[in-house]
Amino acid sequence: MERTFLMVKPDGVQRNLIGDIVSRFESKGYQLVGGKLMQISQELAEQHYGEHKERPFFGELVDFITSGPVFAMVWEGENVISTARLMMGATNPKESAPGTIRGDFAVTVGKNIIHGSDSPESAVREIGLFFKEEELVSYGKTI
Ligand code: CMP
Repeated sequence: MERTFLMVKPDGVQRNLIGDIVSRFESKGYQLVGGKLMQISQELAEQHYGEHKERPFFGELVDFITSGPVFAMVWEGENVISTARLMMGATNPKESAPGTIRGDFAVTVGKNIIHGSDSPESAVREIGLFFKEEELVSYGKTI
């Protein structure tokens, strides 16, 4: 079954949006197989956002993601990588549709509430950066 890495960013945690965000993915029919509230180190932030290293906003990105606790999660289900991206809305909240997480809660691209893996390769890489295999659970065939 497909898995993705999702993370409520410091702005989402501080605005008490963890519950709403978790609820959206639960209601949709996905299963939470890993989750933790954590403070990201400078080193982990630089690894996680490595592909943006040359971008002018890289420093800002790392400073923001390390500025307060985040809620890191692994979700599982059919097509969860692309569907979670649809549910999150466009990266820039100016373009994210109402009804999506960013469309409903965010105004600026830097503080856009949530991160989600953009491909199967990113999902594997990001899950491995944030979680040990033994931190993830399996539900079996209950649904
Ligand atoms: P995310 O999905 O976490 O992946 C990279 C992040 O870079 C993206 O969300 C945005 O929050 C951030 N980002 C993209 N463009 C800019 C920008 N111009 N200025 C600041 N942050 C940006």
